[in-house]
Amino acid sequence: MTTILGISGSLRRASYNTALLRAMAAAAPAGVSIEIASLHGIPLYDGDVEAQGVPAAVTALKERVVAADGLLLVSPEYNNAMPGVFKNAIDWLARPPDDGPRVFRGRPVAVVGASPGGFGTVLAQNAWLPVLRTLGTLPWFGGRLAVSRAGGKFAADGALQDEQVREQAAAFVAGFADFIREQR
Ligand code: FNR
Repeated sequence: MTTILGISGSLRRASYNTALLRAMAAAAPAGVSIEIASLHGIPLYDGDVEAQGVPAAVTALKERVVAADGLLLVSPEYNNAMPGVFKNAIDWLARPPDDGPRVFRGRPVAVVGASPGGFGTVLAQNAWLPVLRTLGTLPWFGGRLAVSRAGGKFAADGALQDEQVREQAAAFVAGFADFIREQR
């Protein structure tokens, strides 16, 4: 079994990105499991807090990343970049510095996203690149999933109702899982 930890970068109950993550989990092929993680409970990074010990919610998310074979960032776009809450969580996961490599170095990572606008988070996806490079991850560039006009593609309950996006999501997950297996 290839396991991928998907983290939604939105805290919103009706988040399109969380809905996309759920749809990708449902579209995973046999032998691939996408587990769903959220940013709820991750505090704001504070070096004084870190000096007293990494918060339990951060440690729990870290261990979920470490236990998975790959990491999927499902990122909204805020002001043409990633949301601060998402970057904050990734910053925490890289702390303390001597533990960051265990979490990120050489780890297969993919970035996708959904937006009500016309460009489907392509600028947010680009904004993640220097972060992924700095952390020493192994980003997968073999596929692209940027869901634009998300309001028309998800039902009010978050269910994906667009067959083309479902096919794109399935192909993306399958391609990323193949990449992960090739790294072993
Ligand atoms: C946005 N949004 C947005 N959308 C986009 O495509 N490009 C952008 O630069 C921005 N900028 C932006 C800034 C801020 C502060 C907010 C709150 C929102 C709209 C954004 O895509 C929309 O709110 C999505 O619904 C957020 O994702 P979730 O919460 O639905 O997953």
